[in-house]
This record gives sequence, C-alpha cells and structure tokens, in this order.
Amino acid sequence: MKTFPCWMIAMAYLWCAVDGSQGGLLTLSCMTFEEDYNFKEDKFDGTWYEVRRLSDPSATQHEDCVVMNYKLGEQGSFEIRESYQVGDESEPIYRSGRAEPKVFQDARIPKFFERFNTTDPADPDISIDIVATDYSSYAVVYSCTSINSTHHLESAWVLSRQPALAKNVVELVNLFLESRFTRPDHKWRATIHTADYCKPTSVEELPMYAGAGTRTVLSMPAVLLGVLLAVLLY
Ligand SMILES: *[C@@H]1O[C@H](CO)[C@@H](O)[C@H](O)[C@H]1NC(C)=O
Ligand SMILES: *[C@@H]1O[C@H](CO)[C@@H](O)[C@H](O)[C@H]1NC(C)=O
Repeated sequence: MKTFPCWMIAMAYLWCAVDGSQGGLLTLSCMTFEEDYNFKEDKFDGTWYEVRRLSDPSATQHEDCVVMNYKLGEQGSFEIRESYQVGDESEPIYRSGRAEPKVFQDARIPKFFERFNTTDPADPDISIDIVATDYSSYAVVYSCTSINSTHHLESAWVLSRQPALAKNVVELVNLFLESRFTRPDHKWRATIHTADYCKPTSVEELPMYAGAGTRTVLSMPAVLLGVLLAVLLY
C-alpha cells in the first residue's frame, strides 16, 4: 500500500478548511483607506444591488442577481437579508445575517463585523468596511478577514441602489476603484442582473432568523485540532 506522509493530510485538511470559507483573494496585508467621512447609518438603510465583485480566480461558481436589504437595528447594527442565484436555472437562495459595528477610536470609515446564518460556525466573522458611498446611488464595500497568523482573505463589492449604476456614477466608481485597487490580482467581475436571468426575489419580506450575530471565534483552534486529529488518526 502506498503511504502518504502526515504533513500531506494536514495540508489537505488546511486547504479544505480554507476552501470551505467565504471566497476571496489571499493577501498578506489588508488595504487601508484614508477616506474620512461621517457615516449616516439611517441613510444606508434599504435595498442594494451588488453590481461588481472583486474576482476570485479560484471560484468555480459565481453568485449573481445579488440583492441585499439592510435594516438599521439597535446601536448602529444592521439586519441583513440577502438573495442570490448560482446559474440561470437556480431559484433565489436566501440568507440572513447581521452587521455589528466594530468600535475603534481612530476609525475614519464605518467598519462592521458581519455574519450570516449560512456562515460556518468555525469561520470568523467577516470584517467589512464601507469605504465610499453617496447613500443614494452607490457604495463600495471592502472586506479583509484574517484567516491565520500571516494571511487575510480579501474581497470587495460595488453596491448600487438600482440593478445598474447610472453612467455618471460608473465613471466616479471606476476612478475610485482604479486608484485604490491597484494590485495585479485586483480584477472585477460584473454581477449579472438582467431580468431574463434573475428570478423575482422577495428578499425584502424575509423574516429574520434569531441566531445571527452570535460571534464564534474558534476558527484557528478548530483547524489546529483538525490537523492534530488527522495526524493522530493517521
Ligand atoms: C437563512 O435565512 C434565510 C432567510 O431568513 C432562510 O430562508 C434560510 O433557510 C436560512 N438558511 C439556513 C441555513 O438557516
Ligand atoms: C496561512 O494560510 C495560507 C493560505 O492557505 C497559507 O499559504 C499560509 O502558509 C498559512 N500560514 C500559516 C502561518 O499557517
């Protein structure tokens, strides 16, 4: 019988653990945004369409028709309802979650911890920053979440109040993206929103589920335990 060294199993486990989490780009350091503005939570409330997403080359399937509804809750938190489709055959898939404001003294831009009811309990809360918005037409959301002691998983979205951005807003958004997202792996994918592709969604009427918002910070220990088990069982 051919034998595989323990480290291979450990690596495979690690790979699976990372693969099972939210998609994104691997990076050693998160981007910092110098934007400084006074975020108005109540004006961010309501429905947003995801019109672009930082392209993840390892993604085998894409979420399209992404519609999210942000509802302002207590103490600056948001309840989120989201629907998306994977392929044109798919029915809308719903998920709900919560964004809790991070409290940082020197935060210049609004920063949140986000968690969905579909988030694996072993995964950390997703960190999201609303790096730019005019509330009435567009928003740029940046996410960078630590996955181990060295690496982060990075993602970003362009949100629009309409299924497509108005022409004058597209130019403004492009300028912003081109000047900030300058790494060679920063490529954008347009999220499909055509009426013949996207099924009607009832994202705004979804009931909230109760469990959102409970933080679980066991990602690394869980992975390490898995490695240990893999090694022991082998
Ligand atoms: C997550 O929440 C959505 C909307 O409330 C619900 O339709 C879906 O079934 C839930 N999924 C899970 C895995 O709990
Ligand atoms: C962190 O994860 C990345 C991606 O899986 C991996 O390449 C890197 O070696 C990991 N670093 C540590 C210290 O485990």
